[in-house]
Amino acid sequence: MKDNFLWGSSISGGQCEGGYASRGETVVDIIPQGKETRKIYLDQPGKYLQRPNGFYPSQKGVEFHENYKEDIALMADMGLKALRFSVLWSRIYLDDSGTPNEEGLEFYDCVINELLKYNIQPIITTIHFDMPLWLVERYNGFSSRKTIELYQTYIETIVKRYHDRVKYWISFCEINVMNYFLYMVGGAIVKEGEDKNKTLLQCAYNKLLANAVLVKTCHEIDSSLKVGCEVAGTPCYPETSSPEDYQLMMNEERSHNRYTDVMVTGKYPYYFKHEMDKYGIEFNEDDLKLLKENTLDFIAVSYYKTSLSSSKGNISNPCLEQTPFGWSIDPKGMRIMLNKMYERYEKPIMIVENGLGTYDKIEDGKVHDQYRIDYLNQHIKQMKLAIKDGVDVIGYLTWSAFDVVSTGEGMMSKRYGFIYVDRNDDGSGTLKRIPKDSFYWYKDLIKVNFIK
Ligand code: BG6
Repeated sequence: MKDNFLWGSSISGGQCEGGYASRGETVVDIIPQGKETRKIYLDQPGKYLQRPNGFYPSQKGVEFHENYKEDIALMADMGLKALRFSVLWSRIYLDDSGTPNEEGLEFYDCVINELLKYNIQPIITTIHFDMPLWLVERYNGFSSRKTIELYQTYIETIVKRYHDRVKYWISFCEINVMNYFLYMVGGAIVKEGEDKNKTLLQCAYNKLLANAVLVKTCHEIDSSLKVGCEVAGTPCYPETSSPEDYQLMMNEERSHNRYTDVMVTGKYPYYFKHEMDKYGIEFNEDDLKLLKENTLDFIAVSYYKTSLSSSKGNISNPCLEQTPFGWSIDPKGMRIMLNKMYERYEKPIMIVENGLGTYDKIEDGKVHDQYRIDYLNQHIKQMKLAIKDGVDVIGYLTWSAFDVVSTGEGMMSKRYGFIYVDRNDDGSGTLKRIPKDSFYWYKDLIKVNFIK
C-alpha cells in the first residue's frame, strides 16, 4: 500500500462520549435500548420525545469524554494513522442563541492535540446520527431551511477553530440511511396527516445544501482541506434473472445513489429531480448554483453487508453467511461496491467504516476474537483487489476503535471494537479497556503496511 495510506478506525460522539452533564442532548440520547424496537424509534421516536424514565445508553456512551487520553494512548499503541470521530454539535451550541460553548470547543482541541501528539490524523464528521435535540424541538430538523443556517454557524465555528490541525472533513454520517431513519439522520418528526416521503425529500434537499455549505466553507477558510460525505455502501443483487428483480434492484440502488449523485456531480439526476417535483419540493436557482459550485473532494463510504432485491420481499441471500445479528457477510461485495462507485464517480474513496458487530467474551482477562480478524482480513483483501482494479482508495478505517453503544440496537454487547470496554447492556461494568486479539493483529498489519 502507498506510504500515506490511512489505516485507521472510527468512532462517533453519540455512541461513545457520554459527558452528558456538560452538553445539550442529541437525537439518540432519548432513544432507549431494544433489539427490535430501537430501530422503529430511530425512524420516528413517538412517546420518547417526552423522555419517559428508562435506560438511555447513548447518554453514557463509554465515557470517552472522561477517558479520551487513555483511549488515544491505546490507539497510538495500535499504530493507528487516522481516527475519525464526530464533534457533537450539541456540545458546541447548547441552543440556537448563536453563542458557542468554549468548554466544548476546548474538549475537541484536547482530543485533536492528543491525537496529533501520536501522529494520528484526526478526521471530523460534523454530524454522526447525533444532531442536537433542540433542533428537532424548535425547527423539526432538516425539514426546515433554518437548520441550514444554524449548521453554517456551527461549522464555521469548528472549521475556523480546527482547520490548522484537521485536513479531512466529513459532513454527515451515512446520509442515505435517512431513507430508513428519518428522525436520527434528518431530525424530522412527521406529523399526523403529513406525507412521510415528502418530509424525507425536503430533508434531503436541505441536507444536500448543507453539505455544499460545508464544502464551500472549508475551501474558503483553507483551500487545502478535503471534504467528503459518508454514504452507506449497500450494494444489492437481484434475487433472480427476472426483469422485475432487476428493476427492484435498480430502484434500491437509486434510492442510495441519489444523494451521492448530487454531491459529486453538483446536479440532480433526472430520476431524483422527477421525484422531488412529484412531491412538490421547490428548487431555486441560488440553491442549484451552490450545489454546482461545491462538490465533494472525496467519497467516504461504510461497508458492512449486501442485500437481495426480490419480488418476494425481504429475503436473505442463501449464498452468504450471516452475523448473529442477521447481517450478511460478503467480503467480495466490498470489491464490487468500490468498483461500481469509482466507475460512477471517479473520486477518491475513503472507507470510513467496516467491521463485525458480534458478541465477545472474556477468557482469562483476554478476548480471542479470531472471527473478527478473519472478517477484517477478508475485507481488506478485497479492498486490495479493488485497488488493483484501479480504484483510488485513500484509506481504510474500521468500525470501531473500541466498543461503543450500537446504533441499531443500543446494546453494548453488539461489539465492533479492537478494544473491549467493560460495560454491559444495563450500563453496569467497570469501563476497563482490554485490547482484544484483533488489536495486536491490526497493529502488525499497520506496522508492515501489508496484508497476507
Ligand atoms: C454505521 C454507523 O451505520 O453502522 C455506526 O455509522 C454504527 O454509527 C455502525 O454503529 C454499526 O451499526 P450498529 O447498528 O450495529 O451499531
